[in-house]
Amino acid sequence: MEKIVSLCKRRGFVFQSSEIYGGLGSCWDYGPLGVELKRNVKDAWWRAMVHERDDVVGLDTAILMHPQVWLASGHVGQFADPLVECKSCHTRFRADQLQESRCPDCGGDLTEPRMFNLMFKTFMGPVADEAAVVYLRPETAQGIFVNFQNVLATTRKKLPFGIAQMGKSFRNEITTGNFIFRSREFEQMEMEYFVKPGTDDHWFQHWLDQRFNWYINLGVKKENLRLRPHGKEELAHYAKGCYDVEYLFPMGWSELEGIANRGDYDLVQHAKHSGKDLSYFDEEASQRIVPNVIEPSAGVDRSVLAFLLDAYDEETVEKEKRVLLRLHPLLAPIKVAVLPLSRNEKLIPMAADVFKALRRGSVAQYDDSQSIGRRYRRQDEIGTPYCVTIDFQSIEDHQVTVRDRDSLKQIRVPAAALAETISSKLAGEPFDVLPPGGTKWLGFDT
Ligand code: GAP
Repeated sequence: MEKIVSLCKRRGFVFQSSEIYGGLGSCWDYGPLGVELKRNVKDAWWRAMVHERDDVVGLDTAILMHPQVWLASGHVGQFADPLVECKSCHTRFRADQLQESRCPDCGGDLTEPRMFNLMFKTFMGPVADEAAVVYLRPETAQGIFVNFQNVLATTRKKLPFGIAQMGKSFRNEITTGNFIFRSREFEQMEMEYFVKPGTDDHWFQHWLDQRFNWYINLGVKKENLRLRPHGKEELAHYAKGCYDVEYLFPMGWSELEGIANRGDYDLVQHAKHSGKDLSYFDEEASQRIVPNVIEPSAGVDRSVLAFLLDAYDEETVEKEKRVLLRLHPLLAPIKVAVLPLSRNEKLIPMAADVFKALRRGSVAQYDDSQSIGRRYRRQDEIGTPYCVTIDFQSIEDHQVTVRDRDSLKQIRVPAAALAETISSKLAGEPFDVLPPGGTKWLGFDT
């Protein structure tokens, strides 16, 4: 973990929030490369969950919601963790996460546990009294449930169908830590899949498979991923059944995503509290029913961390250490780097043209400072899948060299075919496949 934290800071993936003021506990800022990686993770989720399916639509609801929402959902009453405080040093801990009966920091006596609600409160409007209290949402899911009838009426979807949303959530966690794993402000990617009662077990299994494979297809190693069923005592107040997708983080197996069978809990609760009909007319059975809900709920920040951890690699090349991120091309912040061999004025016009052509279709970076070896290292360390080099021969034969991050192999490609070659490689074409006029790989370039 220390290596990832240090790389993230050094290369501009993640910074401590408000660092110049000493930092704000458990809040993080994503830097120029981190924001690209995070967007790519979210885009990959949206593509898999919304664009590639006929049965799921998207939504983007407000963070602030009517306070009744959280009464109906059970968050006001039950979204709490047991808190104990050390009577000597006053540090607070989550009682259910403590192994010992005394303060782990100073050995002092602990108070009796009391339930601590994790929702952040704020005030709406200029009057800071109880009547104006609203909460920062602790999950995005409730925005979906309260819009169930709006989406149904406007899309005319039939069961089974899903509504997906991603966005910020806030929890006043008692204990945070492990970098971006547990913070007080984070992002979720959630989908509520509405099904006919009695078909929920089938769809639960469907979503367990889909979600597990999503991580594998984007580069998480199978041996580092598992599905763990919740025991009865662990189940959230709304859940009929739940599995965690767990990843083997450096601190041990921990939750990446929860997949829950929520039954009809949420629609029943919101119908009761709002007085609105949230049922669905089942044409086949000619009756009104309340759908059951399967919910895959993933954390963006935890996914980013897992992808980074599994991508990180170190190897020795020609007696020198090479640090690289073997990120899936879809996730890599920069897809291709253009590196003229030097700043020689003969090379620059061609390098500029190549860069212009590549950035039309891809996220490209131009770098002409320091030695070519150093520039390769910099791109390896941020996970750029391909580097394109323009040398003096390029000016003669209009060919450029493409270097593959993972194998260090090189191919020589006509400049006119470069953009198409790069997009084919990014889409999964084997590196050794050459475009017309290309030259077989030339060996390794470190
Ligand atoms: N709507 C259901 C729900 O919110 P959850 O298991 O509490 O379920 C879902 O949260 C996911 O959100 C978790 O699997 C995790 O990836 C992410 N998450 C929850 N709390 C988090 C925190 N404090 N920091 C970072 N991510 C968090």
